[in-house]
Amino acid sequence: MNLSTKPARRTWRRIADSRVINALAAPNGIGRYLEVLNPMWSLDQTRIPAYITAIRRETKDTVTLELRPNGDWPGFRPGQFCQLYIEINGRLHSRSYSLKRRAGRISVTVKAQADGLVSRYINSQLKVGDIIRLSPPMGDFVLPELLPDALLMIAAGSGITPIMAMLEAALKRGYKGGVTLLYYNRSEADTVFHARLLKLASTYSNFSLLPVFSDGTGKLNGHFSQQHLLTALSFQNNLSAHTGALTLPECFVCGPEALIQAVSDEYQLLGHSEKFHAERFKAVTSTSGDTGAVGTLIFKNSQSEVSSDSRNLLEQAEAAGLQPQSGCRMGICHSCSCLKTDGSVRNMNSGEVSHGEEYIRLCISQPLGDVSLAI
Ligand SMILES: Cc1cc2nc3c(=O)[nH]c(=O)nc-3n(C[C@H](O)[C@H](O)[C@H](O)COP(=O)(O)OP(=O)(O)OC[C@H]3O[C@@H](n4cnc5c(N)ncnc54)[C@H](O)[C@@H]3O)c2cc1C
Ligand code: FES
Repeated sequence: MNLSTKPARRTWRRIADSRVINALAAPNGIGRYLEVLNPMWSLDQTRIPAYITAIRRETKDTVTLELRPNGDWPGFRPGQFCQLYIEINGRLHSRSYSLKRRAGRISVTVKAQADGLVSRYINSQLKVGDIIRLSPPMGDFVLPELLPDALLMIAAGSGITPIMAMLEAALKRGYKGGVTLLYYNRSEADTVFHARLLKLASTYSNFSLLPVFSDGTGKLNGHFSQQHLLTALSFQNNLSAHTGALTLPECFVCGPEALIQAVSDEYQLLGHSEKFHAERFKAVTSTSGDTGAVGTLIFKNSQSEVSSDSRNLLEQAEAAGLQPQSGCRMGICHSCSCLKTDGSVRNMNSGEVSHGEEYIRLCISQPLGDVSLAI
């Protein structure tokens, strides 16, 4: 019997919910026993097990993992991501990766970052048949239900992953508007999904691919500029024949902060910030000493304390030698959620200040004076 299918999971969840069975299976609950028998039978819907069914090398430093999660996987919208939970040297780490669907399978594509712990492990250590865990999908970097008349997609390096998921989904849905992709990489050899993108461009006449290589061999060169934007728009019918006025397409960008900022500035300059959508893979990090937020940081469970500065609490806890759970490190995934038992913090995304006992996300919380945490 395959206990990882959706119907089997429903049955086991009903059994697991029974008070008698739970009493018999105490203290661990039946889910724990199922998981020991077979990790794919786990009833944990927050960390869903998935088999690695194939590993494809995309470039010298990027791989795609094809995954088959158990029946608890809820599906996702192209552009969304999930947390991947991976055990390295006995410690569970989580990182965010964008999801893609192809031929009924889901996949993630991971670029090994220099000094990157998890991305390098994924690139060099994982094997077909290994089981990793996925959080349910999250994120709102997705195409609207009603697709706009034209789309401009801009990606750099591994930022192609959510863009590719949206691009393929739109074209397969029969999208007829013009869609142009400006894609920045060092060279063709560093370009993830290069062959697949060329194939899409030859299959769909409404899709224009504009590779930009910093080694100077692309159709365009250098960093994003207004010239690049105008070139991209020239592939679409964005200039009014009557007035010469420019209609900007809805724009989706994923890449380094400098690229996101440059495109955002152009859209703002042209008065169409509302058509600009971006996803960041890396938080804009806070630096120490930029506000007068010093105090004492008390880690109650580990019975230690340090002098605090104005970095986020996740960085400060890690610098103090602790290992709190983390994922996106930018306030999206809630992996770093932690009980603050006392003190005041500033939410670094919203600027809001809150006081006293509450759950906070360490990665976006800046201490204001003395703060006690239950870690
Ligand atoms: C919403 C979201 C979706 C993401 N989707 C993808 C994806 O589809 N594919 C993918 O490859 N990555 C993706 N990422 C980035 C991914 O979550 C990790 O941050 C990345 O793989 C590095 O993890 P690490 O453990 O190897 O690096 P760490 O050990 O955490 O960091 C090591 C060093 O690498 C730097 N670093 C960390 N992340 C990046 C980055 N993204 N770019 C450049 N330098 C970095 C750090 O500053 C540090 O110096 C996504 C991130 C977010 C927030
Ligand atoms: S690590 Fe994702 S919210 Fe903090």
